[in-house]
Amino acid sequence: GKDVHILAVETSCDETSVAIVKNGREVLVNLVASQIETHKAFGGVVPEVASRQHVECITLLLEQAIAESGLQPDDLDAIAVTEGPGLVGALLVGIMAAKAFAFALDKPLIGTHHIAGHIYANRLIEDVQYPAIALVVSGGHTEIVRMESEGRFEVMGQTRDDAVGEAYDKVARALGFPYPGGPHVDKAAQASESAVPLPRVWLEEGSYDFSLSGLKSAVLNLVNQSRMKGEEVDKGGIARGFQESVVEVLVAKAIRAVHEFGAKQLLLCGGVAANGGLRSALTARCAAESIPLLIPPMKYCTDNAAMIGAAAYIKWIRGEVSDLYIKGEPGMSL
Ligand code: KG4
Ligand code: ZN
Repeated sequence: GKDVHILAVETSCDETSVAIVKNGREVLVNLVASQIETHKAFGGVVPEVASRQHVECITLLLEQAIAESGLQPDDLDAIAVTEGPGLVGALLVGIMAAKAFAFALDKPLIGTHHIAGHIYANRLIEDVQYPAIALVVSGGHTEIVRMESEGRFEVMGQTRDDAVGEAYDKVARALGFPYPGGPHVDKAAQASESAVPLPRVWLEEGSYDFSLSGLKSAVLNLVNQSRMKGEEVDKGGIARGFQESVVEVLVAKAIRAVHEFGAKQLLLCGGVAANGGLRSALTARCAAESIPLLIPPMKYCTDNAAMIGAAAYIKWIRGEVSDLYIKGEPGMSL
C-alpha cells in the first residue's frame, strides 16, 4: 500500500519536539528543543516559562521538520499531537499549532496520549508481541501498563505520590546535584561501594502501585541529620541505598506483572529508562527468566515527538482521528 506519513508534535512538558514518522516506524526527522538550561536556574520546570518557550520554538521546528524530511506538506497524511497528560499551558501550544496545520492542510488531526507515546517508542524499533507489560518511568509518570493487543492499555498500577524521576530529582537536590539530578544520583550510586540501608515500599500484597514520597523523606531526614551533627553527608551511600530500594521494587513488580498476565514481552520506557541500576537489574532478571525485554534507544526514551508519531499511527490504522475541538487534557487517562 501507500506510505503513511504522520507529522507529530509534543509539547507536554519542557521539550518542544516535532517529528515526521513514516509507516509508524521510520523516523524521517525528530527535532527536540530542550528547555533544561532555562529551567535549571529555577531547580525545576516552571510551567509559565515552559509555555512561552514552546511558543518561541514551535513554528520554526515545524518548518524545519518539513524541510529536512524532503516532503511537501501535502505528502503528510495526518497531524498528531500530544493531547495529555501534561502541563495545560504547554500542551495547548502544541495543540494550537497542530490544529492550525491540520486545518490549513485539510489533514486529519490525531490527539495522542503521552504515555501511549512513551510505550510505543518501542515500536519504532520492532513490533510489540502481545500481551505485553510496559513499565513507564519518567519525571511525571510511574506506571505498570498491561496491553492485551495493539492500542489497548490498562493501567495495573501507578505511583500514589511522586513519580520515580521526580523522586530522583528531589533526592538529587538534597544531595546538592544540579537539576535534573536523576543522572547524577545514578552515577553516584554506581560509583559507591556501600549502600545506606533504606526501606522497600511494597504497599498491600498484590498491589502494582508505588509510593516514593516516604523513601524520599527518609533520604531528606538522613541528609538533615548529618548536616545538624556537622558530619559529612555520605552522598554515594545514600544515592546507592536510594537506587537499590527504588530498583528492587520496580523490577519485582514489573516481573510479577509479566508472570501474572502471561506477557510475551516487557517494555521499558520513559526518561528513567536511562538509569544504569534499573537497566542492569531488569536486563539480568529478564535474561534469567527468559522474558524478552525491549528498551528504546535513549533519544526515544526522553520526551520526543517521534514516539507520538508511533502511537498516532496505531490510531490512524484504526481510523481513530480527532476533531478540531480537542483541548489539552492535563489529567488524561490512558
Ligand atoms: O521522560 P522524561 O524525559 O520526562 C518526562 O516525561 O517526565 O524523564 C525525565 C526524568 C527526570 O526526572 C530525570 O531526572 C530522570 O528522568 N532521569 C533519570 C536518569 N536520567 C534521567 N533518573 C535516574 N537515573 C537516570 N540515569
Ligand atoms: Zn514523558
